[in-house]
Amino acid sequence: MSLADTLTDEERLAELDLDTLKQLVGLVEYDAAEDPFPVTGWDAAVWAVGNAPQTAHYFQSAYGMELVAYSGPETGNRDHHAYVLHSGAVRFVIKGGVDPSSPLIAHHARHGDGILDVALEVPDVDACIKHARSVGAVVLEEPHDLIDEHGTVRIAAIATYGETRHTLVDRSRYHGPYLPGYVARTSTFRPRPGRPKRLFQALDHIVGNVELGRMDEWVAFYQRVMGFTNMAEFIGDDIATDYSALMSKVVANGNHRVKFPLNEPAVAKKKSQIDEYLEFYQGPGAQHLALATSDILATVDALRDEGVEFLATPDSYYEDPELRARIGTVRVPVEELQKRGILVDRDEDGYLLQIFTKPIGDRPTVFFELIERHGSLGFGKGNFKALFEAIEREQEARGNF
Ligand SMILES: [Fe+2]
Repeated sequence: MSLADTLTDEERLAELDLDTLKQLVGLVEYDAAEDPFPVTGWDAAVWAVGNAPQTAHYFQSAYGMELVAYSGPETGNRDHHAYVLHSGAVRFVIKGGVDPSSPLIAHHARHGDGILDVALEVPDVDACIKHARSVGAVVLEEPHDLIDEHGTVRIAAIATYGETRHTLVDRSRYHGPYLPGYVARTSTFRPRPGRPKRLFQALDHIVGNVELGRMDEWVAFYQRVMGFTNMAEFIGDDIATDYSALMSKVVANGNHRVKFPLNEPAVAKKKSQIDEYLEFYQGPGAQHLALATSDILATVDALRDEGVEFLATPDSYYEDPELRARIGTVRVPVEELQKRGILVDRDEDGYLLQIFTKPIGDRPTVFFELIERHGSLGFGKGNFKALFEAIEREQEARGNF
């Protein structure tokens, strides 16, 4: 299958062409014929939250997403609310329990707001499940059809880290707004004048945090079950200073549309940010979703105007001669990045611009990254160390190191 044939309906509707997508998320050509578990791309990031109507409003008002479909008591679903939102090729489904005995309420009580399901679009659900089962994956839902007046969706699900699942979706014979059981729905929300039409266009990667010593096991899971391969930036244990440490490895599907960095905590003098996540999420889960934008400056300005909070980047990050040399020439003056706290990473293929939000819910767990790629297929590996060290230099200047 050529890359052009893997464009999803959502991507075509979002007027994303192949060249734009290649730059946004770093796609590569590959031969699907040899792939035991071909994945076309992302289907949806499904969230379990404590207040779905308000979270859906937040993703519209702050993140510029558009409400397209809904399921809830009014449509015959007495268990929960579900709001389907789009931005470019990105689909979020926001679920919150209505029935006090809904499993979503128990899930939320354990984990807080977070990602329940990283749903993937596959051309052959049955073949994927057959392969996954043969290599020991836990099948949570057998392949079955969902049918309504808009057509048929073939669907199944397998378990991944923690209580997270991968629903596998073949929607090639379906033309409804999301899935059978959902109705089309729009919103009266109107963005403030002058805001960009979309603040992000594609999902670049979703990071999973797993327990100490389990990262290699989950890397092997994605290789064995889903035929994913290690990406060039397969970074072992080099995201560490003496004070804050984590290990990360990255696996991707054949065309690199779906990329899963997997983190585990590493032992250091202070508590790893991954340990903090595992404690507050009560186990492994999705840590951050990287949203690809073609203009990270405009996106960050718009998000700030809506009150979204980002991690601060110290001025020393931009003023350090070593970092300046590493950054090199990018599409805007470094001062423009510094004003907004946007980070730069560079490798042999090019560079990327990125910034991280603060956790978006009550618990210090899930957050977003905004990313603008210019050739680099990396994940900002250079920035972890540079950022942590920049912070430590600041501490040293204050006599607190
Ligand atoms: Fe990331």
